[in-house]
This record gives sequence, C-alpha cells and structure tokens, in this order.
Amino acid sequence: MKKSPSRFAPISDRLSGLGAAKWAVHVEGLARAAAGKPVTFLSIGEPDLPPPASVLDQAIASMRGGRLKYAAGQGEQVALDAIAAHLSRRSGQEVSPDQIVYTAGTQNGLCTALMTLVQTGDEVLVPDPYYATYEGLVAATGATFISVPTLPEDGFHVTPAQIEAAITPRTRVLLLNTPSNPTGAVLSQNEIDAIGEVCEQHDLWIVVDEVYADLTYGAPFCSPFDRPHLRHRTLAVSSISKSHALPGFRAGWIASPPEVTPRLVLVAEAMLFGSQPFIEDALAVALSERHPEVERLSAAFKDRAHKLVSAFDGSTAAIARMPEGGMFIMVDIRKTGMSGEEFAWMLLNDHNIVVMPGESFGKGGAGHVRLALTNEADVLFEAGLRIRKAAEDAATHH
Ligand SMILES: Cc1ncc(COP(=O)(O)O)c(C=O)c1O
Repeated sequence: MKKSPSRFAPISDRLSGLGAAKWAVHVEGLARAAAGKPVTFLSIGEPDLPPPASVLDQAIASMRGGRLKYAAGQGEQVALDAIAAHLSRRSGQEVSPDQIVYTAGTQNGLCTALMTLVQTGDEVLVPDPYYATYEGLVAATGATFISVPTLPEDGFHVTPAQIEAAITPRTRVLLLNTPSNPTGAVLSQNEIDAIGEVCEQHDLWIVVDEVYADLTYGAPFCSPFDRPHLRHRTLAVSSISKSHALPGFRAGWIASPPEVTPRLVLVAEAMLFGSQPFIEDALAVALSERHPEVERLSAAFKDRAHKLVSAFDGSTAAIARMPEGGMFIMVDIRKTGMSGEEFAWMLLNDHNIVVMPGESFGKGGAGHVRLALTNEADVLFEAGLRIRKAAEDAATHH
C-alpha cells in the first residue's frame, strides 16, 4: 500500500518531545501552588526586580508619539546606533550600525542566526550542559545537535580539546553561551582565544549567546566578537531581557561581520517583518544611559549568589560553587546517589521546593540541580539550607 505523505513538514516532528519533559517538575510545582500548597520556586530565570523607569517612560512616550508603524527590517536607526555604540564601548573597537540586526530577543536572534548559517546535514557543536532551548533551535534548522561534554571538575568550562574532538567535516557552527545558563561559567579571554584558534583551523562560525554579559561576579566578561581576530567569524546575540529585567519587551540584537547583516535581514524579514518602533526607542534608552535599577539588579544577583552558596558551605553531600556569572547556581548532589531528576522530585514532594533537574540541560548536568537566583536573598538562603539538609539525609541513607 502506498504510504500517504505527511500533511506536515518535518520541522514539528523534529521539535516534538524536545521541550515538555525538561519542565515537568516546574509544571507540577505550579499545579500544587495553584492548589494552595506553599511552594518555593527556584526554577525560572525571570528577573524579579523592577526594570529602569526611564526605559518604560520612553516606550510610553514613543507610543503616545505615534511610533506605532512598521519598523525597518534591520531595525530602527536609533536602536541600531545605540546597540553599535554599546558594543563599541564594551570592546573598545568600532562596531558599525551596519553590523547590527535588531531581533525580538535573544531566542529570536539565535534562531535567525542559525537559520542563516546551517541546514540539514550540517552539525552544530554545543558545550553540554546547555540552555534548554538549544536542542530545539538546532533541530528547527534541520542541522544535527552535537553536544560537547564538559566536566563539573573544570567548572563546566569547555576546552579546545573537547571541541576539537567533536569536529567532523560537517561541523559548521560552535554555539557558545557565556556567562552560561545553567552552569554560571564565564569564558576567559585566554579560553576564548584558544577556542577561537580551533574555530579558525576548521573554519567554523561562532554563534555566542551573551544574554548574561552584564551579570558577572568577578570574572571579566569576554566575547569572541570583541576579539579582533575572531570578529569575522562571530555572531554575537543578546538582549535587554535579563540586564534590564525586560523579557516581555522581546528586544535584542545580532552583531555580525558586515557582510552577514543583509543575509540575516532576509531571514528576519521572512519571520517577522520589523519589530515595534516604540520598543526599539526604549531599547535605545536602555543601552545609552546609566540606570540605577540595572546596577541594583546586578549587585542583588551577586549578593544573592554569595548568600545561597554560603548555605552549602562545608557540606559534602551538596556542593555549590559561586557562579562566575549569570542567574543560576548548579548544586552537585552526586553524593546522594540520586539523579538530578530524582532529587528534584524529592524536593518537590517532601519539601515543596521547585528546582530544575541538571539533566534538563543535557547529560553534563547529571547529578546536579539548578537553582535560580530570582528570589530575595533570605528566601534563597533558607531554601538552600533545606536543600542541603535533604541532600545530607539522602547521602546518609545511600
Ligand atoms: C542562555 C539564554 N539564552 C537566551 C534566553 C532568552 O533570552 P531572550 O529573552 O532575550 O529571548 C535565556 C532566557 O532564559 C537564556 O537563559
């Protein structure tokens, strides 16, 4: 019998099953909270502090002022100029507005970048653990997701040797995330240069997700886009979702070599012909001025990270290291003999605490749980003590 053709393109088959299971503990936590249980959520990476008032004021003023028409496909000039100036200040090297494409946040920027660079048959290298949407991003393009293992003992820093070992003739892109969600690793300039050398040798693009660039806790942020010898192969993607506590604005960008820009614009226009001009105006204000709210936010996350990590001081059953950046802490609970997933379910069932299993972020996250810093410091500290005690009890019985 003739097999009837599918009514759908394979993209949704490739994407199905990559999402829901990762969030099962969180979803169950939401259901229990809705049923009246006192659940503490350490699962989601949404900043809980207020965004800069002047950025909101600009969005409202621009709306009232009629900035409600279609924006240019590449982005409004005011936003492109502000992003280019922001990146020029950061790197100390000129970035021109013709190197910028405005996107509806980092996720949309990553998707636009990957769709422009890879297709079925290509391979994309991703250090593991990785942000939970990356498998879907790569699968959407048809390319193959190749995870590059990293080790907790290395602070989850990917090494040039680990990258080199994963390269095949089909490899096209290395997808980096620094500071990393979930691991908190921040790649140093030396590491970026050594990784960049491997990418030079094998002529790979580097796509780097820098959404946590402004949240570092001592280790200086370094982007391959800011390294003069790597800029010609780097697409740097970011947004104001985390830095300015505005995820709902969906306001971000891709910075690339100038010859890549027109190709990105074609793809961006196919998906979303222009963003909201009033949001682009607000992003320009976000990036062009200093905001006390932004400084408060990064200071608060640093303080919270120290406080939460201190709840695990001296424990051998639950090991937490100070993250170098980002909004999360990985807690190593391998001494309990449980998987991250088993431990996360136990925390929900017995302690009403919701965390993300490390396995939700790839094999490299096994035996860990990820805690988000999106709660007040004392709430985090108290939850940290309870998680520590739960790990110590489990390790004793193990
Ligand atoms: C590593 C990473 N990249 C991208 C995003 C999404 O960012 P945006 O809101 O700019 O799309 C997140 C959000 O949690 C993230 O953690």
